[in-house]
Amino acid sequence: MYETWEELENSIQNCNKCKLYKNRHSIVFGEGNKQADLMFIGEGPGADEDAQGIPFVGKAGQLMNKAFQGLGLKREEVYIANIVKCRPPSNRVPEEDEAIACLDYLRNQVLLIKPKIIVLLGSTALKNILGKEYGITASRGKWIEQKEILYMPTWHPAALLRDENKKIEFWKDLKEAIKRYEELKEEKINMEG
Ligand code: URA
Repeated sequence: MYETWEELENSIQNCNKCKLYKNRHSIVFGEGNKQADLMFIGEGPGADEDAQGIPFVGKAGQLMNKAFQGLGLKREEVYIANIVKCRPPSNRVPEEDEAIACLDYLRNQVLLIKPKIIVLLGSTALKNILGKEYGITASRGKWIEQKEILYMPTWHPAALLRDENKKIEFWKDLKEAIKRYEELKEEKINMEG
C-alpha cells in the first residue's frame, strides 16, 4: 500500500498486471475530491472514458450527473472510481483475474480517501467489494456496514438506460445515500463547534 497519491499514481502508470492494458488508450484512475466522505464505485471504463481518461463521462455518466444535479449533489464533492481502470473490450464485464489484479489500486484509493459512505453502482462493484454472495436485486437500497464504511448498493446507471423502472429505484437509493452524507456533514460541523 502506498502512503501518498503520488506514489500510487506513479505505480499504476505502466500497469500490465492484466490483459486489459493491451487495448487501452487511457488508464481511468478516478476523479474527484480526494478527501470525500462519499465515494462512488462503478464497473469499468467504456469507450468515452477510455478516450478521455475520466470515469463516467459517457451516456451512463451523463445520467448519473443528471441525478446528482436533481438531488443537489456536486460531482466535484465526491470521488468516483471503477473496479477496473482499463476498458474491457466491447464493454464486457471485467473477468475475475482482471478485477483481482486491479483491486489493490482501488483499495489503496479507499484507504487514502477514507470515505464514510460508498455507493456501489451495479453487480460488479457489489460482488467485488462486498463478496460474491451478494446480489444486486436483493441488496440494492439497503445499507451494509463493513469496517466502519456504510455501503449503499444500487443499479448501475447503464441499467437505467435499458429499464425505466430502475430509474425510480436508483434515484431513491441515491437520495438515501445523499441524505446520510448530509447528516454526517452536519454532525461533523456540530462536533467542530
Ligand atoms: N460505466 C462504468 O462502470 N464506469 C464508467 O466509468 C463508465 C461507465
